[in-house]
Amino acid sequence: MTADRASGAAPAPATPKPRALSGIQPTGRFHWGNYFGAIRQYIELQPPADGASPGAAAEAYYFIADLHALTTVRDPARLRDLVRAAAIDLVALGLDPERAVLFVQSDVPEVCELTWLLMTVAPMGLLERCHAFKDKKARGLPADAGLFTYPVLMSADILAYDATVVPVGEDQVQHIEVCRDLAGAFNHLYGPVFTLPVPRLVEGGAKVPGTDGLKMSKSYDNTLDVFEDPAAQKKKIMRITTDSRPMEAPKDPETDHLFALYALVAPEEDRLRMAETYRRGGFGYGEVKKALVTAAAEHFAEARARRAALEADSERIEAILAAGATRARARAWDVLDRARRACGIDRSPHRPPPGRTS
Ligand code: ADP
Ligand code: TRP
Repeated sequence: MTADRASGAAPAPATPKPRALSGIQPTGRFHWGNYFGAIRQYIELQPPADGASPGAAAEAYYFIADLHALTTVRDPARLRDLVRAAAIDLVALGLDPERAVLFVQSDVPEVCELTWLLMTVAPMGLLERCHAFKDKKARGLPADAGLFTYPVLMSADILAYDATVVPVGEDQVQHIEVCRDLAGAFNHLYGPVFTLPVPRLVEGGAKVPGTDGLKMSKSYDNTLDVFEDPAAQKKKIMRITTDSRPMEAPKDPETDHLFALYALVAPEEDRLRMAETYRRGGFGYGEVKKALVTAAAEHFAEARARRAALEADSERIEAILAAGATRARARAWDVLDRARRACGIDRSPHRPPPGRTS
């Protein structure tokens, strides 16, 4: 019993500390859009090793969304490889398992049960408006119930850890709104069970362009992958589409996708110098492409070295994911327990998973 309670005084209200959570689907190897648009932000939000820092979360949960990926990756061996590669990539890029909880979505089965509880308060109309399903239907493609209920599983992912802040790209904001709606509906029926999260968009929110100038995306086959073989990446860079204006013509760096890619990986000083060169004119796109090859190699050199070390130590990544799953399950169990009791699904003993300490 605390001193406050012993003296009969009301306990001081706890200051809400941001708890960050995000998931990323292992549907392919990570490209620059994934890194600069999502992963880099996860890393920035990790609680610092040496105490508080403004902007960082108090706790951070990041997971590899393999259950979501099942709606697109139908080859089990490939899915296993992609999950493992995603874990190695994230750690190599700076996600620190000492500071953030890194785990695989399917290692926390509590999330699936929570999905069902949320499904019972999810209006059909709300899910019909969600873009992943709507777009597929509009294109006349067959959609399965997994795709239709995808935002409910995503809501369970978020609510299971009492997340308050969800770093995502703009395309996911609609799903966070769904999550808030479902949590609100459940709380309205059964009392305050779930914490309502807010999205946190990448600063600037700029879309990373692909090698053809459209948004970089696996679906457009226009990606530069973070850990791509350097020779293959060089070929892709040398083939980046450019316009046919004469070399002498001054150009606006702000509207050029080759420059936008260079700006992501080049040090500040080089970026400013390149912008100046664009404005002056009298340069060839070939030179910019060569500079991009070099800048990209340097930008990811350390991460590449860390990746090679992790790849060579096969037990390390498994140990990281196992420890992450234990920590994630401990919290998800508490939240699920709360939700079960609130709605009257608490007849059978609901046993905590191994490793639950609290
Ligand atoms: P893809 O379009 O290649 O299938 P995903 O949809 O799996 O990529 O992307 C996962 C996350 O990565 C998205 O939620 C978004 O935050 C980020 N992302 C993907 N592509 C880009 C991009 N071109 N620019 C900025 N962010 C992106
Ligand atoms: N749907 C997200 C994407 O495609 C991945 C995801 C699954 C996620 N569950 C989540 C993101 C929970 C944030 C929070 O990018």
